[in-house]
Amino acid sequence: MEHDHTDPLRARRRTLITGAAGQLGQALARVFAEDDVLALDRAGWDVRDEAPPLPWAPDLVLHTAAWTNVDGAEDDPQGAAAANVGGTAHAAALGAPLVAYSSDYVFDGTKRTAYVESDSPSPVSAYGRTKLHGEAAAGERAWVVRSSWLFSETGHNFVRTMLRLGAEREEVAVVDDQRGCPTYVGHLAEATRALIADDAPFGVWHLAAGGDCTWAELAEAVFEEAGLDCRVRRITSAEFGAPAPRPAYSVLRSEKGAPALPHWREGLQECLARLAGG
Ligand SMILES: NC(=O)c1ccc[n+]([C@@H]2O[C@H](COP(=O)([O-])OP(=O)(O)OC[C@H]3O[C@@H](n4cnc5c(N)ncnc54)[C@H](OP(=O)(O)O)[C@@H]3O)[C@@H](O)[C@H]2O)c1
Repeated sequence: MEHDHTDPLRARRRTLITGAAGQLGQALARVFAEDDVLALDRAGWDVRDEAPPLPWAPDLVLHTAAWTNVDGAEDDPQGAAAANVGGTAHAAALGAPLVAYSSDYVFDGTKRTAYVESDSPSPVSAYGRTKLHGEAAAGERAWVVRSSWLFSETGHNFVRTMLRLGAEREEVAVVDDQRGCPTYVGHLAEATRALIADDAPFGVWHLAAGGDCTWAELAEAVFEEAGLDCRVRRITSAEFGAPAPRPAYSVLRSEKGAPALPHWREGLQECLARLAGG
Protein backbone atom coordinates (compact mmCIF):
# COMPACT_ATOMS: atom_id res chain seq x y z
CA MET A 1 0.00 0.00 0.00
CA GLU A 2 1.32 3.34 1.01
CA HIS A 3 4.45 2.08 2.65
CA ASP A 4 7.72 2.86 0.99
CA HIS A 5 8.84 -0.08 -1.14
CA THR A 6 11.63 1.98 -2.75
CA ASP A 7 13.83 2.07 0.32
CA PRO A 8 15.29 -1.39 0.99
CA LEU A 9 15.94 -0.43 4.60
CA ARG A 10 12.23 0.30 5.01
CA ALA A 11 10.71 -2.94 3.78
CA ARG A 12 8.29 -3.16 6.69
CA ARG A 13 5.22 -0.98 7.03
CA ARG A 14 5.22 1.10 10.21
CA THR A 15 1.88 0.54 11.84
CA LEU A 16 0.59 2.28 14.94
CA ILE A 17 -2.21 0.65 16.94
CA THR A 18 -4.16 2.71 19.48
CA GLY A 19 -6.16 1.11 22.30
CA ALA A 20 -3.72 -1.80 22.15
CA ALA A 21 -4.92 -3.42 25.39
CA GLY A 22 -8.49 -3.67 24.08
CA GLN A 23 -9.95 -6.78 22.49
CA LEU A 24 -9.59 -5.58 18.90
CA GLY A 25 -6.22 -3.90 19.54
CA GLN A 26 -4.77 -7.22 20.69
CA ALA A 27 -6.12 -9.09 17.67
CA LEU A 28 -4.73 -6.48 15.28
CA ALA A 29 -1.28 -6.70 16.86
CA ARG A 30 -1.35 -10.43 16.15
CA VAL A 31 -2.64 -10.14 12.58
CA PHE A 32 -0.34 -7.25 11.58
CA ALA A 33 2.72 -8.86 13.21
CA GLU A 34 4.65 -8.74 9.93
CA ASP A 35 4.55 -4.95 10.12
CA ASP A 36 6.79 -2.89 12.33
CA VAL A 37 4.07 -2.44 14.96
CA LEU A 38 3.91 0.14 17.71
CA ALA A 39 1.01 -0.89 19.95
CA LEU A 40 0.05 1.87 22.39
CA ASP A 41 -2.37 1.24 25.23
CA ARG A 42 -4.04 4.04 27.17
CA ALA A 43 -0.88 4.60 29.26
CA GLY A 44 1.14 4.96 26.03
CA TRP A 45 -1.31 7.36 24.42
CA ASP A 46 -4.49 8.69 25.98
CA VAL A 47 -6.12 9.67 22.70
CA ARG A 48 -8.06 12.52 24.30
CA ASP A 49 -4.67 14.25 23.99
CA GLU A 50 -2.57 14.83 20.90
CA ALA A 51 -0.18 12.01 20.03
CA PRO A 52 2.95 11.73 22.14
CA PRO A 53 6.35 11.83 20.40
CA LEU A 54 6.65 8.67 18.30
CA PRO A 55 9.83 6.84 17.21
CA TRP A 56 8.75 7.20 13.59
CA ALA A 57 6.01 8.67 11.41
CA PRO A 58 3.53 5.82 10.87
CA ASP A 59 2.58 4.53 7.42
CA LEU A 60 -0.71 3.24 8.82
CA VAL A 61 -2.76 3.94 11.95
CA LEU A 62 -5.20 1.33 13.28
CA HIS A 63 -7.32 3.35 15.67
CA THR A 64 -9.25 1.15 18.10
CA ALA A 65 -9.05 3.25 21.29
CA ALA A 66 -12.57 4.23 22.24
CA TRP A 67 -15.06 4.73 25.02
CA THR A 68 -17.02 1.50 24.55
CA ASN A 69 -19.27 1.60 27.62
CA VAL A 70 -22.57 2.13 25.82
CA ASP A 71 -24.66 2.63 28.97
CA GLY A 72 -22.02 4.79 30.67
CA ALA A 73 -22.03 7.17 27.71
CA GLU A 74 -25.61 8.19 28.53
CA ASP A 75 -24.39 9.66 31.84
CA ASP A 76 -21.23 11.22 30.48
CA PRO A 77 -21.68 11.96 26.77
CA GLN A 78 -18.92 14.56 26.87
CA GLY A 79 -16.47 12.07 28.32
CA ALA A 80 -17.41 9.59 25.60
CA ALA A 81 -17.07 12.29 22.92
CA ALA A 82 -13.62 13.30 24.18
CA ALA A 83 -12.39 9.77 23.46
CA ASN A 84 -14.51 8.87 20.44
CA VAL A 85 -14.54 12.16 18.55
CA GLY A 86 -11.49 13.98 19.93
CA GLY A 87 -9.46 10.78 19.94
CA THR A 88 -10.27 10.05 16.31
CA ALA A 89 -9.36 13.62 15.31
CA HIS A 90 -6.02 13.22 17.08
CA ALA A 91 -5.38 9.91 15.30
CA ALA A 92 -6.24 11.52 11.94
CA ALA A 93 -3.92 14.44 12.70
CA LEU A 94 -0.95 12.07 12.39
CA GLY A 95 -1.54 12.35 8.65
CA ALA A 96 -1.14 8.66 7.85
CA PRO A 97 -3.82 6.48 6.26
CA LEU A 98 -6.15 5.64 9.10
CA VAL A 99 -8.49 2.80 9.95
CA ALA A 100 -11.13 4.28 12.27
CA TYR A 101 -13.40 1.66 13.81
CA SER A 102 -17.06 2.53 14.11
CA SER A 103 -20.21 0.72 15.08
CA ASP A 104 -23.57 -0.68 14.02
CA TYR A 105 -24.96 1.59 16.74
CA VAL A 106 -24.79 4.53 14.31
CA PHE A 107 -28.07 3.11 12.93
CA ASP A 108 -31.50 3.38 14.56
CA GLY A 109 -32.45 -0.23 13.81
CA THR A 110 -35.78 0.46 12.12
CA LYS A 111 -34.80 -1.38 8.90
CA ARG A 112 -35.54 -5.10 8.57
CA THR A 113 -32.99 -5.79 5.88
CA ALA A 114 -29.25 -5.48 6.30
CA TYR A 115 -27.72 -2.03 6.67
CA VAL A 116 -25.28 -1.24 3.86
CA GLU A 117 -22.70 1.53 3.62
CA SER A 118 -25.01 4.01 1.86
CA ASP A 119 -27.79 3.76 4.47
CA SER A 120 -28.32 6.90 6.53
CA PRO A 121 -27.08 6.72 10.09
CA SER A 122 -29.40 7.90 12.84
CA PRO A 123 -28.02 6.86 16.23
CA VAL A 124 -30.38 6.35 19.16
CA SER A 125 -27.77 6.45 21.96
CA ALA A 126 -25.12 8.88 23.18
CA TYR A 127 -22.47 6.27 22.35
CA GLY A 128 -23.82 5.93 18.79
CA ARG A 129 -23.75 9.71 18.34
CA THR A 130 -20.10 9.90 19.44
CA LYS A 131 -19.18 7.10 17.02
CA LEU A 132 -20.96 8.89 14.16
CA HIS A 133 -19.19 12.18 14.95
CA GLY A 134 -15.98 10.17 15.23
CA GLU A 135 -16.51 8.94 11.66
CA ALA A 136 -16.58 12.56 10.49
CA ALA A 137 -13.45 13.33 12.53
CA ALA A 138 -11.55 10.54 10.75
CA GLY A 139 -11.03 12.81 7.74
CA GLU A 140 -10.43 12.12 4.07
CA ARG A 141 -7.64 9.54 4.31
CA ALA A 142 -9.54 7.00 6.35
CA TRP A 143 -11.23 3.67 6.05
CA VAL A 144 -14.16 3.99 8.43
CA VAL A 145 -14.76 0.36 9.37
CA ARG A 146 -18.14 -0.31 10.97
CA SER A 147 -18.43 -3.59 12.82
CA SER A 148 -20.74 -5.00 15.44
CA TRP A 149 -21.11 -7.01 18.66
CA LEU A 150 -17.38 -7.69 19.07
CA PHE A 151 -16.19 -10.59 21.16
CA SER A 152 -12.83 -12.07 21.97
CA GLU A 153 -11.10 -14.49 24.29
CA THR A 154 -9.89 -11.42 26.21
CA GLY A 155 -11.58 -8.39 27.74
CA HIS A 156 -15.17 -7.61 28.60
CA ASN A 157 -17.65 -9.03 26.16
CA PHE A 158 -20.94 -10.90 26.00
CA VAL A 159 -19.42 -14.31 25.21
CA ARG A 160 -17.13 -14.21 28.24
CA THR A 161 -19.99 -13.00 30.44
CA MET A 162 -22.18 -15.90 29.29
CA LEU A 163 -19.39 -18.42 29.91
CA ARG A 164 -19.15 -17.14 33.49
CA LEU A 165 -22.90 -17.01 34.11
CA GLY A 166 -23.50 -20.34 32.38
CA ALA A 167 -21.10 -22.04 34.77
CA GLU A 168 -22.77 -20.43 37.82
CA ARG A 169 -26.49 -20.61 37.04
CA GLU A 170 -29.17 -22.90 35.72
CA GLU A 171 -30.89 -20.13 33.78
CA VAL A 172 -30.02 -16.69 32.42
CA ALA A 173 -32.41 -14.07 31.07
CA VAL A 174 -31.19 -12.71 27.74
CA VAL A 175 -32.57 -10.09 25.37
CA ASP A 176 -34.21 -11.59 22.30
CA ASP A 177 -35.43 -8.49 20.44
CA GLN A 178 -32.11 -7.13 19.18
CA ARG A 179 -30.60 -8.74 16.09
CA GLY A 180 -27.04 -8.24 14.90
CA CYS A 181 -23.83 -9.87 13.72
CA PRO A 182 -21.61 -11.06 16.58
CA THR A 183 -18.11 -10.54 15.22
CA TYR A 184 -14.96 -12.28 16.41
CA VAL A 185 -12.12 -9.75 16.66
CA GLY A 186 -9.65 -12.13 14.99
CA HIS A 187 -11.87 -12.22 11.91
CA LEU A 188 -12.31 -8.44 11.93
CA ALA A 189 -8.54 -7.98 12.15
CA GLU A 190 -8.01 -10.36 9.19
CA ALA A 191 -10.68 -8.56 7.16
CA THR A 192 -9.05 -5.22 7.96
CA ARG A 193 -5.75 -6.51 6.65
CA ALA A 194 -7.46 -7.80 3.50
CA LEU A 195 -9.25 -4.48 2.93
CA ILE A 196 -5.97 -2.59 3.01
CA ALA A 197 -4.14 -5.21 0.93
CA ASP A 198 -6.91 -4.94 -1.68
CA ASP A 199 -6.16 -1.21 -2.02
CA ALA A 200 -9.77 -0.45 -1.13
CA PRO A 201 -10.60 3.24 -1.50
CA PHE A 202 -11.00 5.32 1.64
CA GLY A 203 -14.54 5.67 2.94
CA VAL A 204 -17.09 3.70 4.94
CA TRP A 205 -16.86 -0.11 4.94
CA HIS A 206 -19.05 -2.63 6.72
CA LEU A 207 -17.01 -5.54 8.11
CA ALA A 208 -19.13 -7.83 10.27
CA ALA A 209 -19.52 -11.56 10.70
CA GLY A 210 -21.64 -13.63 8.34
CA GLY A 211 -25.08 -14.68 9.58
CA ASP A 212 -27.07 -12.89 12.26
CA CYS A 213 -28.80 -13.68 15.53
CA THR A 214 -30.24 -12.22 18.71
CA TRP A 215 -28.35 -12.00 22.00
CA ALA A 216 -30.48 -14.90 23.31
CA GLU A 217 -29.56 -17.04 20.29
CA LEU A 218 -25.90 -16.16 20.81
CA ALA A 219 -26.13 -17.15 24.49
CA GLU A 220 -27.67 -20.49 23.52
CA ALA A 221 -24.87 -21.08 21.03
CA VAL A 222 -22.25 -20.26 23.68
CA PHE A 223 -23.76 -22.79 26.09
CA GLU A 224 -24.07 -25.41 23.37
CA GLU A 225 -20.51 -24.99 22.09
CA ALA A 226 -19.05 -24.86 25.60
CA GLY A 227 -21.13 -27.81 26.86
CA LEU A 228 -22.74 -25.76 29.65
CA ASP A 229 -26.04 -26.91 31.06
CA CYS A 230 -27.77 -23.55 31.33
CA ARG A 231 -31.16 -22.47 29.98
CA VAL A 232 -31.81 -19.17 28.23
CA ARG A 233 -34.98 -17.30 29.17
CA ARG A 234 -35.81 -14.94 26.33
CA ILE A 235 -36.73 -11.43 27.46
CA THR A 236 -37.33 -8.07 25.81
CA SER A 237 -35.04 -5.05 25.93
CA ALA A 238 -37.71 -3.30 28.03
CA GLU A 239 -37.64 -6.12 30.57
CA PHE A 240 -33.83 -6.02 30.68
CA GLY A 241 -33.95 -2.25 31.18
CA ALA A 242 -30.49 -1.15 30.07
CA PRO A 243 -29.96 2.62 30.42
CA ALA A 244 -29.02 3.16 26.76
CA PRO A 245 -31.40 2.33 23.92
CA ARG A 246 -30.00 -0.07 21.30
CA PRO A 247 -31.10 -0.66 17.70
CA ALA A 248 -33.54 -3.57 17.43
CA TYR A 249 -31.93 -4.62 14.17
CA SER A 250 -28.37 -3.77 13.17
CA VAL A 251 -27.25 -6.44 10.74
CA LEU A 252 -24.38 -5.04 8.64
CA ARG A 253 -23.52 -6.07 5.09
CA SER A 254 -21.31 -4.53 2.44
CA GLU A 255 -22.68 -3.30 -0.86
CA LYS A 256 -19.12 -2.39 -1.91
CA GLY A 257 -17.51 -5.83 -1.99
CA ALA A 258 -15.72 -5.62 1.34
CA PRO A 259 -13.82 -8.76 2.38
CA ALA A 260 -16.35 -11.27 3.72
CA LEU A 261 -15.98 -12.50 7.29
CA PRO A 262 -16.77 -16.06 8.39
CA HIS A 263 -20.13 -16.83 10.02
CA TRP A 264 -20.44 -15.69 13.65
CA ARG A 265 -20.70 -19.31 14.81
CA GLU A 266 -17.25 -20.02 13.32
CA GLY A 267 -15.97 -16.98 15.18
CA LEU A 268 -17.47 -18.33 18.39
CA GLN A 269 -15.82 -21.71 17.84
CA GLU A 270 -12.46 -20.08 17.17
CA CYS A 271 -12.79 -17.90 20.26
CA LEU A 272 -13.65 -20.88 22.47
CA ALA A 273 -10.80 -22.92 20.99
CA ARG A 274 -8.36 -20.12 21.85
CA LEU A 275 -9.77 -19.90 25.36
CA ALA A 276 -9.37 -23.66 25.80
CA GLY A 277 -5.82 -23.47 24.49
CA GLY A 278 -4.96 -20.82 27.08
N1 LIG B 1 -17.19 -3.87 21.49
C1 LIG B 1 -18.14 -3.86 20.53
O1 LIG B 1 -19.13 -4.59 20.58
C2 LIG B 1 -17.98 -2.96 19.34
C3 LIG B 1 -18.93 -2.99 18.32
C4 LIG B 1 -18.76 -2.18 17.21
C5 LIG B 1 -17.67 -1.33 17.14
N2 LIG B 1 -16.78 -1.30 18.15
C6 LIG B 1 -15.64 -0.39 18.04
O2 LIG B 1 -14.46 -1.15 17.84
C7 LIG B 1 -13.35 -0.51 18.44
C8 LIG B 1 -12.64 -1.49 19.37
O3 LIG B 1 -13.54 -1.93 20.36
P1 LIG B 1 -13.14 -3.03 21.43
O4 LIG B 1 -14.30 -3.94 21.53
O5 LIG B 1 -11.78 -3.58 21.15
O6 LIG B 1 -13.11 -2.14 22.75
P2 LIG B 1 -12.38 -2.39 24.12
O7 LIG B 1 -12.04 -3.82 24.32
O8 LIG B 1 -13.20 -1.66 25.14
O9 LIG B 1 -11.01 -1.62 23.89
C9 LIG B 1 -10.94 -0.24 23.79
C10 LIG B 1 -9.62 0.16 24.38
O10 LIG B 1 -9.53 1.59 24.28
C11 LIG B 1 -9.00 2.04 25.49
N3 LIG B 1 -9.36 3.43 25.73
C12 LIG B 1 -10.52 3.96 26.18
N4 LIG B 1 -10.42 5.29 26.27
C13 LIG B 1 -9.17 5.60 25.86
C14 LIG B 1 -8.46 6.81 25.73
N5 LIG B 1 -9.01 7.98 26.05
N6 LIG B 1 -7.19 6.77 25.26
C15 LIG B 1 -6.61 5.58 24.94
N7 LIG B 1 -7.22 4.41 25.06
C16 LIG B 1 -8.48 4.42 25.51
C17 LIG B 1 -9.57 1.14 26.55
O11 LIG B 1 -8.79 1.22 27.70
P3 LIG B 1 -9.45 1.10 29.16
O12 LIG B 1 -9.80 -0.35 29.30
O13 LIG B 1 -8.38 1.58 30.05
O14 LIG B 1 -10.68 1.98 29.14
C18 LIG B 1 -9.49 -0.21 25.86
O15 LIG B 1 -8.24 -0.84 26.08
C19 LIG B 1 -13.92 0.73 19.12
O16 LIG B 1 -13.80 1.81 18.24
C20 LIG B 1 -15.39 0.41 19.31
O17 LIG B 1 -16.18 1.58 19.38
C21 LIG B 1 -16.90 -2.10 19.25
